[in-house]
Amino acid sequence: MTSTSSIGAERLARRMARGCEFLGSEVAILGGAMSWVSERNLVAAISNAGGFGVIACGAMSPALLDAEIAATKALTDKPFGVNLITMHPQLFELIDICGKHGVGHVVLAGGLPPAGSLDAIKGHGAKLICFAPALSLAKKLIRSGVDALVVEGMEAGGHIGPVSTSVLAQEILPEVASQVPVFVAGGIGRGEAIAGYLDMGAAGVQLGTRFAAATESIAHPNFKKAFIRASARDAIASVQIDPRLPVIPVRALKNAGGELFTAKQREVAQALDAGSVEMAEAQLQIEHYWAGALRRAVIDGDVEHGSVMAGQSVGMVTKEEPVATIIETLMAEAAHALEKRAA
Ligand SMILES: Cc1cc2nc3c(=O)[nH]c(=O)nc-3n(C[C@H](O)[C@H](O)[C@H](O)COP(=O)(O)O)c2cc1C
Repeated sequence: MTSTSSIGAERLARRMARGCEFLGSEVAILGGAMSWVSERNLVAAISNAGGFGVIACGAMSPALLDAEIAATKALTDKPFGVNLITMHPQLFELIDICGKHGVGHVVLAGGLPPAGSLDAIKGHGAKLICFAPALSLAKKLIRSGVDALVVEGMEAGGHIGPVSTSVLAQEILPEVASQVPVFVAGGIGRGEAIAGYLDMGAAGVQLGTRFAAATESIAHPNFKKAFIRASARDAIASVQIDPRLPVIPVRALKNAGGELFTAKQREVAQALDAGSVEMAEAQLQIEHYWAGALRRAVIDGDVEHGSVMAGQSVGMVTKEEPVATIIETLMAEAAHALEKRAA
Protein backbone atom coordinates (compact mmCIF):
# COMPACT_ATOMS: atom_id res chain seq x y z
CA MET A 1 0.00 0.00 0.00
CA THR A 2 1.35 3.50 -0.82
CA SER A 3 2.58 5.81 1.95
CA THR A 4 -0.10 8.40 1.08
CA SER A 5 -2.81 5.93 1.96
CA SER A 6 -2.24 5.52 5.71
CA ILE A 7 -5.25 7.65 6.67
CA GLY A 8 -7.16 6.03 3.85
CA ALA A 9 -6.12 2.55 4.96
CA GLU A 10 -7.23 3.32 8.49
CA ARG A 11 -10.58 4.62 7.28
CA LEU A 12 -10.99 1.56 5.07
CA ALA A 13 -10.20 -0.81 7.94
CA ARG A 14 -12.76 0.98 10.12
CA ARG A 15 -15.45 0.74 7.43
CA MET A 16 -14.71 -2.94 6.86
CA ALA A 17 -14.45 -3.88 10.55
CA ARG A 18 -18.04 -5.08 10.90
CA GLY A 19 -17.89 -7.17 7.73
CA CYS A 20 -14.51 -8.65 8.73
CA GLU A 21 -15.82 -9.54 12.16
CA PHE A 22 -18.87 -11.22 10.66
CA LEU A 23 -16.83 -13.21 8.13
CA GLY A 24 -13.76 -13.81 10.29
CA SER A 25 -11.57 -12.48 7.46
CA GLU A 26 -8.97 -9.72 7.20
CA VAL A 27 -10.79 -7.82 4.47
CA ALA A 28 -14.53 -7.66 3.88
CA ILE A 29 -14.39 -8.92 0.30
CA LEU A 30 -16.26 -12.11 -0.53
CA GLY A 31 -15.27 -14.07 -3.60
CA GLY A 32 -18.75 -14.70 -4.97
CA ALA A 33 -19.38 -18.40 -5.62
CA MET A 34 -19.06 -19.23 -9.33
CA SER A 35 -20.15 -22.70 -10.42
CA TRP A 36 -17.19 -24.75 -11.76
CA VAL A 37 -14.79 -21.84 -11.03
CA SER A 38 -15.11 -21.48 -7.25
CA GLU A 39 -13.58 -24.79 -6.23
CA ARG A 40 -10.85 -25.58 -3.72
CA ASN A 41 -8.01 -23.66 -5.45
CA LEU A 42 -9.69 -20.30 -6.00
CA VAL A 43 -11.61 -20.45 -2.71
CA ALA A 44 -8.47 -21.20 -0.68
CA ALA A 45 -6.48 -18.55 -2.57
CA ILE A 46 -9.10 -15.88 -1.76
CA SER A 47 -9.22 -16.83 1.92
CA ASN A 48 -5.43 -17.09 2.16
CA ALA A 49 -5.16 -13.58 0.66
CA GLY A 50 -7.34 -12.22 3.47
CA GLY A 51 -10.69 -12.27 1.67
CA PHE A 52 -13.53 -14.72 2.12
CA GLY A 53 -13.75 -17.52 -0.45
CA VAL A 54 -17.03 -19.30 -1.11
CA ILE A 55 -17.31 -22.78 -2.65
CA ALA A 56 -19.96 -23.00 -5.39
CA CYS A 57 -21.82 -26.23 -4.73
CA GLY A 58 -24.00 -25.83 -7.83
CA ALA A 59 -25.27 -29.25 -8.84
CA MET A 60 -22.62 -31.18 -6.83
CA SER A 61 -23.78 -34.30 -5.00
CA PRO A 62 -23.38 -34.41 -1.19
CA ALA A 63 -20.36 -36.73 -1.62
CA LEU A 64 -18.66 -34.31 -4.02
CA LEU A 65 -19.32 -31.35 -1.71
CA ASP A 66 -17.93 -33.37 1.17
CA ALA A 67 -14.70 -33.97 -0.76
CA GLU A 68 -14.49 -30.36 -1.96
CA ILE A 69 -14.80 -28.92 1.55
CA ALA A 70 -12.18 -31.35 2.86
CA ALA A 71 -9.81 -30.46 -0.01
CA THR A 72 -10.32 -26.73 0.59
CA LYS A 73 -9.55 -27.17 4.28
CA ALA A 74 -6.30 -28.86 3.28
CA LEU A 75 -5.32 -25.70 1.35
CA THR A 76 -6.31 -23.06 3.90
CA ASP A 77 -6.85 -22.72 7.61
CA LYS A 78 -8.74 -19.45 7.05
CA PRO A 79 -12.55 -19.27 7.10
CA PHE A 80 -14.50 -19.86 3.88
CA GLY A 81 -18.16 -20.37 3.06
CA VAL A 82 -20.32 -22.67 0.95
CA ASN A 83 -22.94 -21.51 -1.56
CA LEU A 84 -25.95 -23.80 -1.88
CA ILE A 85 -28.73 -23.45 -4.46
CA THR A 86 -32.23 -23.64 -2.91
CA MET A 87 -33.56 -25.76 -5.82
CA HIS A 88 -31.02 -28.57 -5.24
CA PRO A 89 -33.03 -31.76 -4.64
CA GLN A 90 -30.65 -32.82 -1.84
CA LEU A 91 -30.43 -29.42 -0.14
CA PHE A 92 -30.82 -30.82 3.37
CA GLU A 93 -28.11 -33.44 2.86
CA LEU A 94 -25.79 -30.70 1.60
CA ILE A 95 -26.59 -28.62 4.70
CA ASP A 96 -25.65 -31.61 6.86
CA ILE A 97 -22.33 -31.96 5.00
CA CYS A 98 -21.59 -28.29 5.78
CA GLY A 99 -22.51 -29.02 9.41
CA LYS A 100 -20.24 -32.06 9.52
CA HIS A 101 -17.29 -29.89 8.49
CA GLY A 102 -18.24 -27.00 10.79
CA VAL A 103 -18.57 -24.60 7.83
CA GLY A 104 -19.13 -21.21 9.47
CA HIS A 105 -21.12 -19.48 6.71
CA VAL A 106 -23.68 -20.83 4.25
CA VAL A 107 -24.80 -18.65 1.35
CA LEU A 108 -28.22 -19.64 0.00
CA ALA A 109 -28.87 -18.65 -3.61
CA GLY A 110 -31.82 -19.12 -5.93
CA GLY A 111 -34.71 -17.72 -3.89
CA LEU A 112 -36.07 -17.57 -0.37
CA PRO A 113 -34.85 -20.31 2.03
CA PRO A 114 -37.17 -23.34 1.69
CA ALA A 115 -39.11 -24.36 4.83
CA GLY A 116 -36.82 -25.79 7.49
CA SER A 117 -33.55 -24.88 5.74
CA LEU A 118 -32.85 -21.79 7.88
CA ASP A 119 -33.25 -23.79 11.09
CA ALA A 120 -31.18 -26.65 9.70
CA ILE A 121 -28.30 -24.32 8.76
CA LYS A 122 -28.38 -22.35 12.00
CA GLY A 123 -28.86 -25.56 13.96
CA HIS A 124 -25.35 -26.54 12.83
CA GLY A 125 -24.06 -23.23 14.22
CA ALA A 126 -23.44 -21.67 10.80
CA LYS A 127 -24.34 -18.11 9.83
CA LEU A 128 -26.81 -17.79 6.97
CA ILE A 129 -26.32 -15.28 4.17
CA CYS A 130 -29.12 -14.74 1.62
CA PHE A 131 -29.58 -12.65 -1.53
CA ALA A 132 -32.04 -9.76 -1.23
CA PRO A 133 -33.29 -8.74 -4.68
CA ALA A 134 -35.67 -6.06 -3.29
CA LEU A 135 -36.18 -4.05 -0.08
CA SER A 136 -39.37 -5.91 0.87
CA LEU A 137 -37.55 -9.24 0.59
CA ALA A 138 -34.57 -7.89 2.55
CA LYS A 139 -36.92 -7.02 5.43
CA LYS A 140 -38.67 -10.38 5.20
CA LEU A 141 -35.36 -12.26 5.27
CA ILE A 142 -34.17 -10.31 8.31
CA ARG A 143 -37.47 -11.01 10.11
CA SER A 144 -37.03 -14.71 9.41
CA GLY A 145 -33.61 -14.72 11.09
CA VAL A 146 -31.07 -14.45 8.25
CA ASP A 147 -27.69 -13.22 9.55
CA ALA A 148 -26.50 -11.16 6.58
CA LEU A 149 -27.57 -10.15 3.09
CA VAL A 150 -26.00 -9.87 -0.33
CA VAL A 151 -27.51 -7.20 -2.55
CA GLU A 152 -26.65 -8.09 -6.13
CA GLY A 153 -27.50 -5.93 -9.12
CA MET A 154 -27.97 -6.82 -12.77
CA GLU A 155 -24.43 -5.77 -13.75
CA ALA A 156 -23.25 -9.08 -12.21
CA GLY A 157 -22.22 -12.19 -14.08
CA GLY A 158 -24.41 -15.31 -13.96
CA HIS A 159 -28.14 -15.34 -13.11
CA ILE A 160 -29.39 -11.82 -12.57
CA GLY A 161 -32.41 -9.82 -11.49
CA PRO A 162 -33.80 -6.76 -13.26
CA VAL A 163 -32.44 -3.93 -11.03
CA SER A 164 -28.98 -2.32 -11.06
CA THR A 165 -26.56 -2.49 -8.13
CA SER A 166 -26.55 1.28 -7.62
CA VAL A 167 -30.35 1.43 -7.28
CA LEU A 168 -30.60 -1.64 -5.02
CA ALA A 169 -27.84 -0.25 -2.79
CA GLN A 170 -29.65 3.08 -2.44
CA GLU A 171 -32.97 1.39 -1.70
CA ILE A 172 -31.76 -1.27 0.69
CA LEU A 173 -28.67 0.00 2.57
CA PRO A 174 -30.26 2.98 4.37
CA GLU A 175 -33.17 0.82 5.54
CA VAL A 176 -31.49 -2.35 6.79
CA ALA A 177 -27.70 -1.89 7.05
CA SER A 178 -27.99 -1.09 10.75
CA GLN A 179 -29.78 -4.39 11.40
CA VAL A 180 -27.57 -6.95 9.62
CA PRO A 181 -24.33 -6.77 7.63
CA VAL A 182 -25.08 -6.13 3.94
CA PHE A 183 -22.57 -7.01 1.21
CA VAL A 184 -22.97 -5.29 -2.17
CA ALA A 185 -22.29 -7.24 -5.39
CA GLY A 186 -22.51 -6.71 -9.12
CA GLY A 187 -20.34 -4.57 -11.36
CA ILE A 188 -17.56 -3.90 -8.86
CA GLY A 189 -14.20 -3.80 -10.61
CA ARG A 190 -12.20 -1.22 -8.69
CA GLY A 191 -11.62 -0.18 -5.10
CA GLU A 192 -13.17 3.28 -5.56
CA ALA A 193 -16.55 1.57 -5.96
CA ILE A 194 -15.90 -0.50 -2.83
CA ALA A 195 -15.19 2.71 -0.87
CA GLY A 196 -18.44 4.18 -2.21
CA TYR A 197 -20.61 1.27 -1.08
CA LEU A 198 -18.88 1.18 2.33
CA ASP A 199 -19.64 4.89 2.71
CA MET A 200 -23.28 4.09 2.00
CA GLY A 201 -23.36 1.60 4.87
CA ALA A 202 -22.33 -1.69 3.28
CA ALA A 203 -20.37 -4.03 5.57
CA GLY A 204 -18.37 -5.24 2.57
CA VAL A 205 -18.63 -6.34 -1.03
CA GLN A 206 -18.81 -9.49 -3.13
CA LEU A 207 -16.96 -9.83 -6.43
CA GLY A 208 -17.06 -12.68 -8.93
CA THR A 209 -15.95 -11.53 -12.38
CA ARG A 210 -12.71 -9.92 -11.12
CA PHE A 211 -11.58 -13.28 -9.66
CA ALA A 212 -12.64 -15.65 -12.46
CA ALA A 213 -9.45 -15.18 -14.51
CA ALA A 214 -7.08 -15.10 -11.51
CA THR A 215 -3.92 -17.21 -11.70
CA GLU A 216 -5.32 -19.66 -9.13
CA SER A 217 -8.61 -20.10 -11.03
CA ILE A 218 -8.80 -23.50 -12.72
CA ALA A 219 -10.86 -22.05 -15.58
CA HIS A 220 -9.62 -23.08 -19.05
CA PRO A 221 -7.10 -20.68 -20.67
CA ASN A 222 -9.71 -19.92 -23.40
CA PHE A 223 -12.18 -18.83 -20.71
CA LYS A 224 -9.57 -16.55 -19.11
CA LYS A 225 -8.54 -15.13 -22.51
CA ALA A 226 -12.18 -14.35 -23.31
CA PHE A 227 -12.42 -12.40 -20.04
CA ILE A 228 -9.20 -10.49 -20.71
CA ARG A 229 -10.29 -9.53 -24.26
CA ALA A 230 -13.88 -8.57 -23.42
CA SER A 231 -15.24 -5.12 -22.66
CA ALA A 232 -18.29 -4.21 -20.56
CA ARG A 233 -20.66 -4.19 -23.54
CA ASP A 234 -19.75 -7.78 -24.44
CA ALA A 235 -21.32 -9.07 -21.18
CA ILE A 236 -24.98 -9.20 -22.18
CA ALA A 237 -28.11 -10.60 -20.54
CA SER A 238 -29.93 -13.46 -22.26
CA VAL A 239 -33.29 -12.42 -23.67
CA GLN A 240 -36.65 -14.16 -23.46
CA ILE A 241 -38.44 -13.91 -26.79
CA ASP A 242 -41.78 -15.59 -26.00
CA PRO A 243 -43.91 -14.92 -22.89
CA ARG A 244 -44.95 -18.59 -22.80
CA LEU A 245 -41.35 -19.78 -22.48
CA PRO A 246 -39.78 -18.33 -19.32
CA VAL A 247 -36.04 -17.61 -19.36
CA ILE A 248 -34.18 -16.58 -16.20
CA PRO A 249 -31.76 -13.96 -17.50
CA VAL A 250 -28.07 -14.86 -17.40
CA ARG A 251 -25.30 -12.34 -18.06
CA ALA A 252 -22.54 -13.86 -20.18
CA LEU A 253 -20.17 -12.86 -22.96
CA LYS A 254 -21.97 -12.78 -26.29
CA ASN A 255 -21.08 -15.71 -28.53
CA ALA A 256 -22.56 -18.17 -31.01
CA GLY A 257 -24.19 -20.14 -28.17
CA GLY A 258 -26.24 -17.08 -27.16
CA GLU A 259 -27.44 -16.57 -30.74
CA LEU A 260 -28.33 -20.25 -31.08
CA PHE A 261 -30.35 -19.99 -27.85
CA THR A 262 -32.46 -17.24 -29.42
CA ALA A 263 -32.95 -19.42 -32.50
CA LYS A 264 -33.91 -22.37 -30.26
CA GLN A 265 -36.55 -20.26 -28.47
CA ARG A 266 -37.99 -19.23 -31.84
CA GLU A 267 -38.05 -22.86 -33.02
CA VAL A 268 -39.81 -24.08 -29.83
CA ALA A 269 -42.32 -21.19 -29.96
CA GLN A 270 -43.16 -22.12 -33.56
CA ALA A 271 -43.61 -25.76 -32.53
CA LEU A 272 -46.00 -24.57 -29.80
CA ASP A 273 -47.97 -22.48 -32.32
CA ALA A 274 -48.18 -25.48 -34.64
CA GLY A 275 -49.35 -27.67 -31.75
CA SER A 276 -46.55 -30.16 -32.36
CA VAL A 277 -45.25 -29.89 -28.79
CA GLU A 278 -46.98 -29.62 -25.38
CA MET A 279 -46.34 -26.56 -23.16
CA ALA A 280 -44.55 -28.49 -20.40
CA GLU A 281 -42.23 -30.20 -22.88
CA ALA A 282 -41.55 -26.87 -24.64
CA GLN A 283 -40.62 -25.16 -21.36
CA LEU A 284 -38.38 -28.08 -20.42
CA GLN A 285 -36.52 -27.85 -23.73
CA ILE A 286 -35.77 -24.17 -23.00
CA GLU A 287 -34.80 -24.86 -19.39
CA HIS A 288 -32.44 -27.68 -20.36
CA TYR A 289 -30.81 -25.85 -23.23
CA TRP A 290 -28.10 -24.37 -21.03
CA ALA A 291 -27.53 -27.45 -18.84
CA GLY A 292 -23.82 -28.10 -18.91
CA ALA A 293 -23.10 -24.93 -20.91
CA LEU A 294 -21.09 -23.22 -18.16
CA ARG A 295 -19.01 -26.35 -17.66
CA ARG A 296 -18.36 -26.50 -21.41
CA ALA A 297 -16.89 -22.98 -21.31
CA VAL A 298 -15.07 -23.09 -17.94
CA ILE A 299 -13.65 -26.63 -18.06
CA ASP A 300 -13.60 -27.62 -21.75
CA GLY A 301 -12.72 -24.13 -23.01
CA ASP A 302 -15.51 -24.00 -25.63
CA VAL A 303 -16.11 -20.27 -25.36
CA GLU A 304 -18.09 -20.16 -28.62
CA HIS A 305 -20.88 -22.57 -27.72
CA GLY A 306 -20.61 -22.73 -23.93
CA SER A 307 -21.86 -20.08 -21.51
CA VAL A 308 -19.09 -17.63 -20.62
CA MET A 309 -20.89 -16.08 -17.63
CA ALA A 310 -19.34 -12.70 -16.88
CA GLY A 311 -20.40 -9.41 -15.36
CA GLN A 312 -20.05 -5.96 -16.89
CA SER A 313 -16.90 -5.41 -14.82
CA VAL A 314 -15.20 -7.87 -17.22
CA GLY A 315 -13.72 -4.85 -19.05
CA MET A 316 -11.65 -4.21 -15.92
CA VAL A 317 -10.10 -7.70 -16.10
CA THR A 318 -7.00 -6.90 -18.14
CA LYS A 319 -4.60 -9.70 -17.24
CA GLU A 320 -4.26 -12.99 -15.40
CA GLU A 321 -2.91 -12.14 -11.94
CA PRO A 322 -2.72 -13.78 -8.52
CA VAL A 323 -5.70 -13.35 -6.19
CA ALA A 324 -3.46 -11.63 -3.62
CA THR A 325 -2.51 -8.98 -6.19
CA ILE A 326 -6.16 -8.42 -7.11
CA ILE A 327 -7.16 -7.96 -3.47
CA GLU A 328 -4.16 -5.70 -2.73
CA THR A 329 -4.99 -3.53 -5.74
CA LEU A 330 -8.67 -3.24 -4.76
CA MET A 331 -7.73 -2.35 -1.18
CA ALA A 332 -5.14 0.24 -2.29
CA GLU A 333 -7.67 1.87 -4.64
CA ALA A 334 -10.33 1.93 -1.92
CA ALA A 335 -7.88 3.37 0.63
CA HIS A 336 -6.74 6.01 -1.86
CA ALA A 337 -10.33 7.05 -2.52
CA LEU A 338 -11.00 7.39 1.22
CA GLU A 339 -7.73 9.31 1.67
CA LYS A 340 -8.94 11.86 -0.88
CA ARG A 341 -12.25 12.19 1.00
CA ALA A 342 -10.27 12.97 4.16
CA ALA A 343 -8.38 15.74 2.39
C1 LIG B 1 -18.99 -17.61 -14.06
C2 LIG B 1 -19.93 -17.22 -12.95
C3 LIG B 1 -20.65 -18.22 -12.27
C4 LIG B 1 -21.49 -17.89 -11.19
N1 LIG B 1 -22.12 -18.89 -10.51
C5 LIG B 1 -22.84 -18.57 -9.39
C6 LIG B 1 -23.41 -19.60 -8.58
O1 LIG B 1 -23.24 -20.79 -8.85
N2 LIG B 1 -24.11 -19.24 -7.47
C7 LIG B 1 -24.28 -17.91 -7.12
O2 LIG B 1 -24.93 -17.63 -6.11
N3 LIG B 1 -23.75 -16.91 -7.88
C8 LIG B 1 -23.04 -17.22 -8.98
N4 LIG B 1 -22.43 -16.20 -9.70
C9 LIG B 1 -22.49 -14.81 -9.17
C10 LIG B 1 -21.27 -14.50 -8.27
O3 LIG B 1 -21.30 -15.27 -7.09
C11 LIG B 1 -21.19 -13.03 -7.85
O4 LIG B 1 -22.26 -12.69 -7.02
C12 LIG B 1 -21.17 -12.07 -9.03
O5 LIG B 1 -20.21 -12.52 -9.96
C13 LIG B 1 -20.86 -10.67 -8.55
O6 LIG B 1 -20.93 -9.75 -9.58
P1 LIG B 1 -19.68 -9.43 -10.57
O7 LIG B 1 -19.65 -10.56 -11.54
O8 LIG B 1 -20.10 -8.16 -11.22
O9 LIG B 1 -18.45 -9.32 -9.74
C14 LIG B 1 -21.62 -16.52 -10.80
C15 LIG B 1 -20.92 -15.52 -11.51
C16 LIG B 1 -20.08 -15.85 -12.56
C17 LIG B 1 -19.31 -14.76 -13.27
